[in-house]
Amino acid sequence: MIKNTESSYGIIAIAIHWLMAITIFSLFGLGLYMVELTYYDAWYKGSLDLHKNIGMVLLVALLLRVVWRLVNVTPKSADDEASNAENKTAHYAHLALYGLMGVLMLSGYLISTADGRAIEVFGQLSIPALPFNFANQEDIAGNMHEILAWTLVLLSLGHGLAALKHHFINKNNTLLRMIKVIPSKIN
Ligand code: HEM
Ligand code: HEM
Repeated sequence: MIKNTESSYGIIAIAIHWLMAITIFSLFGLGLYMVELTYYDAWYKGSLDLHKNIGMVLLVALLLRVVWRLVNVTPKSADDEASNAENKTAHYAHLALYGLMGVLMLSGYLISTADGRAIEVFGQLSIPALPFNFANQEDIAGNMHEILAWTLVLLSLGHGLAALKHHFINKNNTLLRMIKVIPSKIN
């Protein structure tokens, strides 16, 4: 099952969810590690390049993910006992996760292009800087990037805990259907 149905996620949505989640947590760790390095550390430039390259690949993945979400149905809640307020909270938390991913990656782009130079993604694709830049762009975007990275990671941990609660306490399919494709009739 490639696409989502009213009651289950398809393989594309599942794969992209977990690939992006693992990559985001890894980039977060790499980001915290690399800002502690100094110019004299062997991996100073390499770690920053890797972070930027993977970050830009994530930005493309996010755009594809949003397009995929728009051409798909979003499965209805797997928790029949959830109140309207709970369903709304989950919905807005998902929108917030999408928004945070977007602005985090854009702020990373703004730090990296503050000097007017393009980002060379794995030496294959050149993403140009904006034709203008604003005062203190590197510092402002850098501060935003740090705050947004922490916010995204903390919110996604809360989101992960909510998924575990659905699995272990409410004992419904919420988590399972994001791990494997569950045919509609037995969902
Ligand atoms: C979801 C994706 C991303 C995550 C989770 C992430 C996370 C982080 C974290 C935690 C830091 C360390 C912040 C600090 O303590 O000062 C950092 C720094 C940085 N990130 Fe990202 N990042 C992401 C995407 C990107 C992208 C797309 C770019 C650029 C193309 C980028 C460029 C940078 C740069 C240049 C720094 C160094 C900032 C400085 O020197 O203060 N990041 N990132
Ligand atoms: C950086 C980490 C993560 C991000 C950015 C993220 C983002 C998202 C987003 C945006 C959705 C909504 C999908 C849609 O309807 O289009 C979603 C769904 C989901 N995520 Fe995550 N997620 C992350 C980590 C996790 C983790 C660690 C878990 C589990 C432990 C998890 C479990 C789920 C589940 C079960 C759903 C489906 C919820 C439902 O059916 O209402 N996610 N996630």
